[in-house]
Amino acid sequence: MRLFPKKQPKRAAHGHSERPMLSVGSPFAIKEAYNSIRTKLIFTGKGEKCPVFAVTSSLSGDGKTTTAVSLAVSIAMADQRVLLIDGDMRKPSVHRYFNTECRNGLSEILAGLSSEIKLRPTDNGNLSILTAGQIPPNPAELLGSRQMDMLLDYVRQYFDYVIIDTPPVNIVTDATVIAGKITGYILVVQSGKSHVRDLSDAIHQIEEMNGSIVGAILNDPDGCGEAHYSYHYNRYSRYKYYGESIPDSKRQRGG
Ligand SMILES: Nc1ncnc2c1ncn2[C@@H]1O[C@H](COP(=O)(O)OP(=O)(O)OP(=O)(O)O)[C@@H](O)[C@H]1O
Ligand SMILES: [Mg+2]
Repeated sequence: MRLFPKKQPKRAAHGHSERPMLSVGSPFAIKEAYNSIRTKLIFTGKGEKCPVFAVTSSLSGDGKTTTAVSLAVSIAMADQRVLLIDGDMRKPSVHRYFNTECRNGLSEILAGLSSEIKLRPTDNGNLSILTAGQIPPNPAELLGSRQMDMLLDYVRQYFDYVIIDTPPVNIVTDATVIAGKITGYILVVQSGKSHVRDLSDAIHQIEEMNGSIVGAILNDPDGCGEAHYSYHYNRYSRYKYYGESIPDSKRQRGG
């Protein structure tokens, strides 16, 4: 569903972000939709003390970040301590939802440039964020590193849930290299845009790394018209940020 009606300016109920995200002032139906996803996730936590879920999708612009942010807010609203990590170090955007700066985040910790894990508080006392940090030359390598294991082990002590926003799996390997470190993936599917072939490629990429897909979220089903338009736009622009890792097979498809 759309987090804001069409043709209305995007604004948050608290006025802290121009981006659409769940807030206490969101319409009942939207809060209920996220509540229902949250409940399902709680039951998928496999009894772990602090389950870690990565939000991903097949291609760019499907609504991964919007979903990751809103899901984290929804879980925090249920009195659970949540850490939202911006794991998209190529195109960081979580910080924009919370009007904070990006640097001093994940990339600096994983690259060993900072020993301080700078978790930023948000308006919701239960929700903290770890921004992506400065864009590094080797994001997939950093995410797959031993430092990432250590970081997750550390934050698991202080939170009930960790949500990681990631880049699209069909374009770069960043999301799948953490398969062995997390509880599972939440796959965002954009109605009217995501193609079966792309979805099946995404599932294949995750399964190839022995990742577990805990569920899929159909995003923006009411905005199909716009989504069709943006699909064509994205076909030409989707490698803008993720360009350096396009596999040859994808180039030949003319994506
Ligand atoms: N449910 C929604 N309601 C309203 N707008 C949405 C919704 N989902 C996504 N959008 C809008 O669509 C655009 C793309 O969303 P978002 O940035 O979350 O996608 P993404 O998959 O994270 O993209 P990228 O792959 O580039 O990181 C943004 O402008 C966002 O505000
Ligand atoms: Mg994103």
